[in-house]
Formats: sequence, C-alpha cells, structure tokens
Amino acid sequence: MNSTHQVEGVTLRLASPDISKGEWIGQGEVLKQLMACWLVVDARDLPLTPRLLGTPGIGKTTLAISGARRRGQELYIYQCTADTRPEDLLVTPVLAESGRIAYHASPLVTAMIRGGICILDEGNRMNEKSWASLAPLLDQRRYVESIVAGITIHASPDFRCAVTMNDDESTFEIPDYILSRLQPTLTLGHPSREDELSILKYHLPFADDQMLNLTVSFLQEAHSLNLDFSTRDGINVLRYALKRIAQDPDHPISRDDVWREAIERCLGEDAADLKTLADKRSQSLGGNQVPMGLGDFFFSPGDPLHPDADDDDLDEFEEEDFDDDDDADEDDDRSPF
Ligand SMILES: Nc1ncnc2c1ncn2[C@@H]1O[C@H](COP(=O)(O)OP(=O)(O)OP(=O)(O)O)[C@@H](O)[C@H]1O
Ligand SMILES: [Mg+2]
Repeated sequence: MNSTHQVEGVTLRLASPDISKGEWIGQGEVLKQLMACWLVVDARDLPLTPRLLGTPGIGKTTLAISGARRRGQELYIYQCTADTRPEDLLVTPVLAESGRIAYHASPLVTAMIRGGICILDEGNRMNEKSWASLAPLLDQRRYVESIVAGITIHASPDFRCAVTMNDDESTFEIPDYILSRLQPTLTLGHPSREDELSILKYHLPFADDQMLNLTVSFLQEAHSLNLDFSTRDGINVLRYALKRIAQDPDHPISRDDVWREAIERCLGEDAADLKTLADKRSQSLGGNQVPMGLGDFFFSPGDPLHPDADDDDLDEFEEEDFDDDDDADEDDDRSPF
C-alpha cells in the first residue's frame, strides 16, 4: 500500500520508488560531475539540475540511477513522452472506489515531498506546456502548482533532479527559458574498450571470452566510425547470440553463424559490414557532395536547363535539340519528373 501525504488539506497518494540497481562502470569523471551538481556547499546554496545528453543506449539513465544510489536517497523515475500533460507530471485525479476523487502524486512530486531524487527520463520528448509547469521548481522557488488539486507543493531541501535527453531529432525543441534552468549539460561519450568489456561482463557474466571480445570489437569499431550502435545494442546482440548457442547443445551452430545472425537480427543486415555502412551513411548525409540548391531537385547535373548551368552547356543543348529529332529518348532523363 502506497503512503499518503497531506498538502494544504489535500491528501496525495504517493508513488513507489524505483529499485533498479544502476551500477555505473568506468567513465568516473562524468559521474563525479553529476554528484557535484547535487552537492550543496553552503546553507545558502542550491543544487543544480543537470541535463545528461547522449545517443540512445549510451548509459544516461544508468548514470543518473547510479548517482542517486550513491547518495543513498530514494529514486523516482518519470518517463517523459510527447503526450505527457502537466497534471501527469504533477498530480492526477483518479476516481476512487468510494466514488470520490483521489489525488495521485507523480514520481516527481513524490520525490519532492519525500526528499528523493527524480530522473526526468527522455526529457526532450516532452512538450513546452508540460515543461512550463516545472519552471518554478527548477529555479530558486523550488515549488510546483497543481491546478488539478488546487495546491502548491514545495520541494524538500533534499530533493534532487536530473534530466536525460537524447541528441536525436525525434524530439521537441525545448524553450531556452527551460534549458537555462537545466544546467550544466553533461555529455556522455562511448566507453573505452576496457570499460565496455567490463560493462558487458557485468551484465552478462556467463558469456565466454570469445563472444565478449567479438562484441567489444564490433562496438569499438562502430564507435570509431561514428555509427550509433550503443553498449545496449552490444548487450542485446550478445544476449541473443548466447541464447542461440545454448538452444541446441547437441547440434551447435557455428559461432560465426550465430554472431552474424545476432548482428543482423538485432541491428539490421547492414550492420554486418560496418565500413560499408559508415560509407553509405556519410554519403546519405551529403559527406562527399556539394550542397544542393533548389535547381538540383528538378534537373540532373549537367542539364543545360539547370538554373546554374553556364552558357556553354546551353549552347550545346540548343545545337543538340534542333539538329536531331531522334534524340527524344536521351532527352527523357532530363525530365524534371
Ligand atoms: N557505464 C556503464 N556502466 C554500466 N552499464 C552501462 C554503462 N553504460 C551503458 N550501460 C548499460 O547499457 C544499457 C543502456 O543504458 P541506458 O539505458 O542507461 O542508456 P540510455 O542512454 O538511458 O538510453 P536511452 O536513450 O535509450 O534511454 C543498460 O543496460 C546499461 O546498464
Ligand atoms: Mg534512458
């Protein structure tokens, strides 16, 4: 049974804390930076709410959980989504069996009340309206106003918060007045080979050295080619490969085949050849190409009708066009459509 708490005469039903382990391995500096944000160095000082930034699966949530565990405080995680409403973040009214309205405090509000730590996970998925409801919490005021329950809730001095964000594009633009309350930005990079091996060993202690090394080599090559395969991808590939190996001990599949299958099934067929994939990606990002103008969308390169074509091309075109009607086929590929 969850506990309750009274605020301005309203009874709030509190959320349950998260109990996951969140062991952080390697990269001690970024963990230290996070711990520094949550430190209070003087009675007049306030903690900071940092932004933990990095690609999916790089370890942002794990880092925040581990920081909370080190401080020995209760941990609450709020998973932000594109349709999170302010009341979801704060207090939600729920129709109780008695027919009366019960007010449920979110993990964030529960952390504020109980002096815990709240991780706002994937914060950049949340829209501005919801962020706006947190503006007073994230500055020196340290309170939120629940419109639904009609109350103001003050954060305990022990309350700490961090926001994780992916640096991908499937997200909202967070307004500057919110970003200025979410400082500093702690950026996570990929782990070194040694750290990544320790992370894999920690999560899959039953994996043999050969499979562990294959996975780490794959991940390190992907990191060096700037491909976005993460430690989580490595854990999933290795986990699947180990299951396939264990599945039929009488007719073992060759390890090479298992490895290839695991890579392809988890990460896609292109992942089997990282160099080619990296080349393809850089080309599709325009790595080797000159920037495109509007004309490039409608006319192929060298087309004399291209607005950027120089006069020499136009002369050639005029000659070709008027002296031979059999050229119709060749002209087809000049069609803009
Ligand atoms: N330094 C690390 N120590 C221990 N485990 C790690 C570390 N880095 C990554 N992991 C493991 O990798 C996996 C992915 O980590 P996590 O879920 O924290 O990533 P994330 O950056 O929050 O991803 P997403 O953006 O998808 O939420 C987890 O299983 C996590 O435990
Ligand atoms: Mg996460």
